[in-house]
Amino acid sequence: MSDTATVPTRRRARFHSLTVSQVRALTDDAIEVTFAIPAELANDYSYDPGQYIAIRTDLDGENLRRSYSICQAPVEGQLKVAIKRDLGGLFSTWAIDNLRAGMQLDVMSPEGKFTSQIVRATAAHYVAVAAGSGITPVLALIESTLSASPLNRFSLVYSNRTSMETMFVDELADLKDKYPVQLALYHVLTRERRSSELLSGRLDEAKFRDILRNLIYAPDVVEWFLCGPFDLVQLCRDTLADLGIDTNAIRYELFTTDRPDRPTGQSGRPVEVKAGEDVHTITFRLDGTTATVTSPVHSNESILNAALRVRGDVPFACAGGVCGTCRAVVTEGTVNMIENYALEPEELARGYVLTCQSIPTSECVSVNYDA
Ligand SMILES: Cc1cc2nc3c(=O)[nH]c(=O)nc-3n(C[C@H](O)[C@H](O)[C@H](O)COP(=O)(O)OP(=O)(O)OC[C@H]3O[C@@H](n4cnc5c(N)ncnc54)[C@H](O)[C@@H]3O)c2cc1C
Ligand code: FES
Repeated sequence: MSDTATVPTRRRARFHSLTVSQVRALTDDAIEVTFAIPAELANDYSYDPGQYIAIRTDLDGENLRRSYSICQAPVEGQLKVAIKRDLGGLFSTWAIDNLRAGMQLDVMSPEGKFTSQIVRATAAHYVAVAAGSGITPVLALIESTLSASPLNRFSLVYSNRTSMETMFVDELADLKDKYPVQLALYHVLTRERRSSELLSGRLDEAKFRDILRNLIYAPDVVEWFLCGPFDLVQLCRDTLADLGIDTNAIRYELFTTDRPDRPTGQSGRPVEVKAGEDVHTITFRLDGTTATVTSPVHSNESILNAALRVRGDVPFACAGGVCGTCRAVVTEGTVNMIENYALEPEELARGYVLTCQSIPTSECVSVNYDA
């Protein structure tokens, strides 16, 4: 039995300097980072399992923001994330090589909609498909849904290349010990042979269908959580839709769009406005106050990039169209949104856009971040 909640309104994201209280190696290429949350910031950092924070740092003269999902169900006074090395990646490489207990980092308050929309669930069956670091939000979701009712069940299909590279193996085994009947764990290894053929090799559409046929009874499932590379998430969504699963029961989170270029090109781009040139006039409402900025027509500048010129606290995290932190409602004028991996059809219908991806197409554009 379960009820579906309405989409919660969003709290404004804010940054605070937090102290790292522990750094723990998870694999050769991944760490778990614990932040201490002082009592006076407890409200700012309260979160729903499945949400993420963003970390803001200056590295080699570049101001970076990177998002990391919270990897445990809420615990008073702390918040944990896990960072996996992205080969050639600026922040993850720095963090894994340098981050130590006692250091301070600017951390954004939790955001995100990759959360369970089911309230008062009993005897509910949840399923997650995760790959690599995509396990982080799922870990929090497993803990919270299973502790909510002894009748709830959770099935996890977790794909990695090898067991050595698998993050949170021990934590998952502990959860299995704690919830032996409620939790079903299916580790799929792509570069290691497992005793079951079904759980060996690439998690492609055929294997996913096989897993559903043999291990998970899809009509029983109240909510699906998909987190991993773009292609995997897409194939799972398509397969589930093809099987007639209600798309409202499918939640997904992308960490990147898997495009070859660095996904941060839509913020912090220096754009100069010269006298006499054609401009778009962008008006935006944020935290109850309204500001206006102009953007040269030829610059093809995103609303976010322009807005950051006059207010440094305009919310954003990935700047790549995947996280949804920068969303706002267009109240006047028109925009062209280049990418959207974050907004749902009903949000688009209500006029929401991702401001990191939206370029004005009318002379005047107004957006409301408070909506
Ligand atoms: C909502 C959300 C939640 C997330 N949660 C997690 C999490 O829990 N754990 C986790 O590990 N990650 C998570 N991520 C991903 C994380 O935010 C970072 O994107 C990731 O850590 C890589 O950051 P980086 O600075 O190391 O890499 P970047 O420097 O951003 O580089 C990213 C990739 O692009 C390549 N690249 C860099 N420059 C170029 C170039 N000029 N041309 C071509 N390629 C280039 C790099 O080699 C690298 O592979 C999440 C992302 C989102 C949006
Ligand atoms: S900042 Fe992530 S979608 Fe715009």
